[in-house]
Amino acid sequence: MAIALCPGSFDPVTLGHLDIIERTSRQFDHVIVAVIRNPQKSQSLFTLEERQEMLAEVTGHLPNVSIEFFKGLLVDFARDHGAAAIVKGLRAISDFDYELQMAQMNQRLSGIDTFFISTTPQHSFLSSSLVREVAKYGGDVSSMVPPVVRERLAHRFDKGIPA
Ligand code: PNS
Repeated sequence: MAIALCPGSFDPVTLGHLDIIERTSRQFDHVIVAVIRNPQKSQSLFTLEERQEMLAEVTGHLPNVSIEFFKGLLVDFARDHGAAAIVKGLRAISDFDYELQMAQMNQRLSGIDTFFISTTPQHSFLSSSLVREVAKYGGDVSSMVPPVVRERLAHRFDKGIPA
């Protein structure tokens, strides 16, 4: 069985993430969405459990997708779960330098290859951090995140949900 990992912080999951997870699920027998427990980034908006709940809800239609947490090196998690590949979305050339570096490091450490999927153009500007910022100031993120995430953002920032 070919298992792929889609790793990330998912704080919160966006339609860009979901697009990559769905397309990965069509290419592999099983996909583990691997949510990092100890991100390098500053304070998270959502707890791990909240992020897992949102991911579980938005991937509920994909029977071969599961959600798990990991800490430490991604390649150790990959090895422990028998994953054959890491799959990442590439939004723009600005993603490429760092993603290539990580892919090569992970390959050197473990032999596990990273596969890149080009992001659907309508999502190429999307990131969780921009979504958080727009939502924080009351902007409309309904075309950027699934409805459940939009609701959680609205409640978190106490802004109500635009019709
Ligand atoms: O959504 P993000 O925050 O861009 O995801 C980054 C993530 C979690 C994929 C990356 O930081 C990662 O793989 N971290 C695990 C630690 C690790 O393995 N570091 C070495 C990578 S070369």
